[in-house]
Amino acid sequence: MPTVLALETSCDESAAAIVADRSVLASAVASQIEEHARWGGVVPEIASRRHLEALPSLIERVVAESGVALAEVDAIAASVAPGLVGALLVGSVTGRTLARLHGKPFLGIHHLEGHLASVQLGEEAPPQGPVLVLLVSGGHTELIRVDAPGHYQRLGRSHDDAAGECFDKVGRLLGLPYPGGPAIEAAAQGGDPSRFSLPKGRVSRPGGGFLPYDFSFSGLKTAMLRQVQALGASGAPLPLADLAASFEQVVAEVLVERSCRCAKAEGLATIVLVGGVAANRRLRALLAQRAAADGLLWRVAPLAWCTDNAAMVGAAACQRFAEGCRSSIRLGVAPRLPLAEAGRLYASEACF
Ligand code: KG4
Ligand code: ZN
Repeated sequence: MPTVLALETSCDESAAAIVADRSVLASAVASQIEEHARWGGVVPEIASRRHLEALPSLIERVVAESGVALAEVDAIAASVAPGLVGALLVGSVTGRTLARLHGKPFLGIHHLEGHLASVQLGEEAPPQGPVLVLLVSGGHTELIRVDAPGHYQRLGRSHDDAAGECFDKVGRLLGLPYPGGPAIEAAAQGGDPSRFSLPKGRVSRPGGGFLPYDFSFSGLKTAMLRQVQALGASGAPLPLADLAASFEQVVAEVLVERSCRCAKAEGLATIVLVGGVAANRRLRALLAQRAAADGLLWRVAPLAWCTDNAAMVGAAACQRFAEGCRSSIRLGVAPRLPLAEAGRLYASEACF
């Protein structure tokens, strides 16, 4: 059972964890959200600086809490793609330096593979056999067929904003703080999810009809803007709870309906929900309800490991390590890398 020190710095959370297979021995996250909230979104330059400041003490903390010295871990891992280049570099350079100093192998991890692995950190046994993963975060909205560890096929995606990004932008137009996801969820408490009728954006297929498993959130964002403008013109206070609940409901419906349709068409018995937006309780509940009605199994990442953290990176690293994967110590970082190409991170010659 491998034990790994894992680092996560792809966006606005600095994180370190020590993970032994599916057990999180220690995990620490320093969120920069408050700092970025002033600007209404993530400022890359600030993110890199804060990672640099936060990482050393986070590593010290997880070593102290786990009681596992760096000399005792089997490998050191860091997210290396996709994400903000300057931010990723901090984790990558730190990880590779520690690996060299302690004579340990280094593993670069695909951030989305980390999100996928988050579901293994639950109490239940990991889902078996081929599954359909609904990955919804601030940067991605994807339906991914996973036939075996490391074997990914993307079956659906958003053609514009990611679901989390849409939560963040709609949060801003409702006057809520960044990030919009948790703020909208809180504002929606007690609201009427059926009060406003909002569009379930569809993506046209070039030859006619629609792409059945793809998403578009730009029309929904515009519809929300129009609602807010129309309601604002009357001078009355915005019905915030109803607006937030109606928005949350339509996003949850569109995600769950297309996931269930895709799983059934592909003959996949299980849907797995991961990523920051997977923390949304309305989405989790709707998936449970609709999947059960369709005779599908479902699994959601534990709440604690939905938004960015290093434990999920550690879980992915343990799996890769056990399969014999090792990265070149020269491996750099990349802002974009399809999940299906995650295996390139373990080529003996660094792929970037
Ligand atoms: O996975 P994550 O932490 O970072 C990325 O890899 O992007 O996801 C962050 C996103 C943000 O857009 C945030 O608004 C959204 O996840 N989010 C939520 C909730 N918590 C976080 N969206 C809806 N409901 C939530 N409770
Ligand atoms: Zn993420």
